[in-house]
Amino acid sequence: MYRTHTCGELRISNVNQTVTLAGWVQRSRKMGGMTFIDLRDRYGITQLVFNEEVNAELCEQANRLGREYVIQVIGTVSERFSKNQHIPTGDIEIIVSALNVLNSSLTPPFTIEDNTDGGDDLRMKYRYLDLRRTAVRKNLELRHKMTIEVRKYLDAQGFIEVETPILVGSTPEGARDFVVPSRMNPGQFYALPQSPQTLKQLLMVSGFDRYFQIAKCFRDEDLRADRQPEFTQIDCEMSFVEQDDVINLFEGMAKYLFKTIRGVELTGPFLRMPWAEAMKYYGSDKPDLRFGMKFVELMDIMKGYGFSVFDGANYIGGICAEGAAHYTRKQIDALTDFVKRPQIGAKGLVYARVEADGHVKSSVDKFYSQEVLQKMKEAFGAKPGDLILILCGDDAMKTRKQLCELRLEMGNQLGLRDKNKFALLWVVDFPMFEWSEEEGRLMAMHHPFTHPKEEDISLLDTNPEAVRADAYDMVCNGIEVGGGSIRIHDAKLQEKMFEILGFTPERAQEQFGFLMNAFKYGAPPHGGLAYGLDRWVSIFAGLDSIRDCIAFPKNNSGRDVMLDAPSVLEPKQLEELKLIVKED
Ligand code: AMO
Repeated sequence: MYRTHTCGELRISNVNQTVTLAGWVQRSRKMGGMTFIDLRDRYGITQLVFNEEVNAELCEQANRLGREYVIQVIGTVSERFSKNQHIPTGDIEIIVSALNVLNSSLTPPFTIEDNTDGGDDLRMKYRYLDLRRTAVRKNLELRHKMTIEVRKYLDAQGFIEVETPILVGSTPEGARDFVVPSRMNPGQFYALPQSPQTLKQLLMVSGFDRYFQIAKCFRDEDLRADRQPEFTQIDCEMSFVEQDDVINLFEGMAKYLFKTIRGVELTGPFLRMPWAEAMKYYGSDKPDLRFGMKFVELMDIMKGYGFSVFDGANYIGGICAEGAAHYTRKQIDALTDFVKRPQIGAKGLVYARVEADGHVKSSVDKFYSQEVLQKMKEAFGAKPGDLILILCGDDAMKTRKQLCELRLEMGNQLGLRDKNKFALLWVVDFPMFEWSEEEGRLMAMHHPFTHPKEEDISLLDTNPEAVRADAYDMVCNGIEVGGGSIRIHDAKLQEKMFEILGFTPERAQEQFGFLMNAFKYGAPPHGGLAYGLDRWVSIFAGLDSIRDCIAFPKNNSGRDVMLDAPSVLEPKQLEELKLIVKED
């Protein structure tokens, strides 16, 4: 054994003990005849002391140690009378009697401290060094704890963990697939699973009525703070269940995780908000309910007074930012620039301040009497000191999405998106289909295996866009942390679904025959859900990006800069795979 104790565990109760520690040199300070070294391992930091007067040779050896050298020391634990406040082991230090250098180190490219001087790119390149930093290590520890608790909860509920393959077939619906060429089947490709969706449904046909898997999923899509091309789902499926059964079980799991991981007790059932309501009042299918600023529609109040921008609009709506009437002209101009950014696309922003006497002062005063402005104020329930912000547009849905961005920005600016506050809800009753401009056809909003609401099935032929799905998403603080649905288990209904999605019977059979054929052998009614593990961990850890809770993440261009992947293949490999790479 290289050590008797870890650096994090030594306390005042260990004083006078002889201990052996092993770890990395975090920092070294020479003060007069004394040398102090912070020794770090996974568990913490312990201060080592070398005294020139006691052992000059040993001290000289210590002075030659560089940052991140790996050392082993033997020494006696001694009480410190002036406590080192910055470390939990600050009451003690080790008076070293022997030092053994286990390995030297190049000078690291950035300091391995909580407040490091390394930029993102550099830390990604040397991720194995970044992982030595306490803050990053803690995220992985939390992730580990979380997966243990997930397994405990699901095991206690009778779920069994089944692994499904990573090399599967490509599916045309959903995001783009990552594909893998097959050497043994030249010209043919596997795809990496975007999720184990169809496989878990097949397990239901096999009778595994409660399945789960902590599953790697792969999607070739544009990246964002909460999206990685390779991510992990807590993937679950159950047989003989209805929507309420799935929702209740996984709401229970969310509460269990909050309690065991964060010590937060969430009481009462989570709000269930129909998708249409979420879009109408928050412009998003994942509303952040940590704060209000619900949308108020103003078509009835503001249209028809000669303000051509509003008069020509199909939607006028706004939010009321409580206590923000002090916003200066400059701040409001900045908000106007914000909503006009191409990613958001609004044409402009109308504002109104409610003054101390209740009078409303707006940017469009010349078109509106005080009487109309007062009506508007009442519609918002606005009080003196509040700021009303209004957007309008031709397309109600598009304008609501712009207003959603403005609401979130105001939430940020007013400090209303507290990371230690948690607002959870279910969004339910999603539309079954959405129109895709790109594809020129209807697409499944959730996925093509989702069951339509029983009462809407008759609309499938006549008005498919009005059909709602038995689908549900769990949202926490404006982030979709999970989603699922009750599935179709009837081969005929599944065939119909593919027909609406524009598949010929032949193509549906070719792509999804394995599933539809399986359904002909006694498929039980079933449904499930997948939680995004990375998103849960990042919420619990208060992170801005899921990247920080993934050991070896990809950067925004989908690259692993440490492994330098993706990369080109050797000509021999291409030849073996019968692949020709086209020059751009
Ligand atoms: P869905 O596509 O909604 O459903 O994914 C489920 C959950 O996975 C997380 N997630 C992601 N996390 C990080 N990076 C990504 N690129 C990413 N994409 C999704 C989200 C999301 O809520 N098979 C269905 C589930 C089911 O119906 O049972 C599915 O994959 O938290």
